Amino acid sequence: MPKVSAAQRISIVALSLLAAACAPDLALARDDVPDEIRKQANPVELEESEVRYYTRQFKSKCSRCHGLDGTGKGETEPDGLVRPANLTDVAYMAARTDGQLFYQILMGGGDRCAMPAFGPESDHAWTEEKIWHMVAFVRRFAERPSP
Ligand code: HEC
Repeated sequence: MPKVSAAQRISIVALSLLAAACAPDLALARDDVPDEIRKQANPVELEESEVRYYTRQFKSKCSRCHGLDGTGKGETEPDGLVRPANLTDVAYMAARTDGQLFYQILMGGGDRCAMPAFGPESDHAWTEEKIWHMVAFVRRFAERPSP
């Protein structure tokens, strides 16, 4: 067995802590998205003329947790176990399918986190079409500095 010095051991620990801190929080995301939804591509496109409407929706319904800029640093700390996803994290968002984002908005965080459900059955009663539009809107955070 090659001997590992204390200094080497410390730098190995430091490096793995750093890697864990920088890695997208995939472990935190919902893993119960039904297969057919997870694979579904967004059927709608967000028209430029619709951006203002969804900016307002995001501001009134989402920004208290996700922040106005989508970084997840909202005004209120959610009381759930999981902190809000950083919607501007390019690597994280690239690893999430449209269907996964759709499902989270449809169903909310359930007992995993404080995010409310927005689907047709929920108090917010958004149509699936509106949710798909919001998915397209949310994608903009990782595509450009401000939506
Ligand atoms: C009460 C706080 C709260 C509100 C309000 C909220 N969210 Fe969230 N959201 C969270 C938390 C916490 C997570 C991380 C949940 C997880 O990983 O399971 C999250 C995760 C997400 C994700 C990532 C899902 C994934 O698959 O990685 C999306 C997209 C999202 N929220 C969109 C929205 C939108 C759009 C709204 C408004 C219509 C909204 N959220 C409102 C707390 C909130």
